Amino acid sequence: MIIRPETPADFPAVEAVNNAAFGEESEAYLIRLIRESDLYVPELSLIAVLDDGTVAGHVMFSLVLLDTAQGEERIFDLAPLAVHPDHQGTGIGDALTRHGLELLEARGEPLVLVEGIPSYYPRFGFERASRHGITPPSPRTPNDAFMVKLLENYEPRFRGAVRYPEAFYLADAVGP
Ligand SMILES: CC(C)(COP(=O)(O)OP(=O)(O)OC[C@H]1O[C@@H](n2cnc3c(N)ncnc32)[C@H](O)[C@@H]1OP(=O)(O)O)[C@@H](O)C(=O)NCCC(=O)NCCS
Repeated sequence: MIIRPETPADFPAVEAVNNAAFGEESEAYLIRLIRESDLYVPELSLIAVLDDGTVAGHVMFSLVLLDTAQGEERIFDLAPLAVHPDHQGTGIGDALTRHGLELLEARGEPLVLVEGIPSYYPRFGFERASRHGITPPSPRTPNDAFMVKLLENYEPRFRGAVRYPEAFYLADAVGP
């Protein structure tokens, strides 16, 4: 298996993996909307490709806003993460997430957010965002699902309210 950034040729396979993993099409829609925005960072939309060429998993890290006392900051958010049901439980989600986190460290990013499964993400160092004064964009966001991983360049000034881009609302990707 290799992990590499997606290219436009991979878009149909990425969509198929997300539809299969989530059993619905809203994540694929979210991905399309993010790709069309200036919040898309192609090198941080990663796919896991099996030795036979199958795209078995995908993770996207894209930019959202953090409204801090000093001004707005663009920070990375992990969404979505999907592994095809045929290949779940074999470490692909783990490998995709860790690879992305390494790339974010290498870029010197201060932190990364996720709104996701509270029992899955702590293994990567994610913890409740509220512990660090980072508040969710919507009252629909469950407190325990809204998590942050602090990276080496984290500074305490990175606190405030997160603002999701319009894509998240259009794709109904806010809250449970
Ligand atoms: C969640 C998901 C990305 C995990 O990827 P994966 O490749 O199957 O997981 P890995 O093999 O890397 O890790 C397996 C571990 O994840 C845990 N895990 C998998 N799905 C989980 C879930 N829905 N809730 C809690 N833990 C889960 C397993 O229990 C296992 O734990 P263990 O290592 O302690 O035994 C994948 O199952 C998936 O695509 N699910 C459907 C879509 C989804 O829910 N995406 C995440 C949205 S936040």
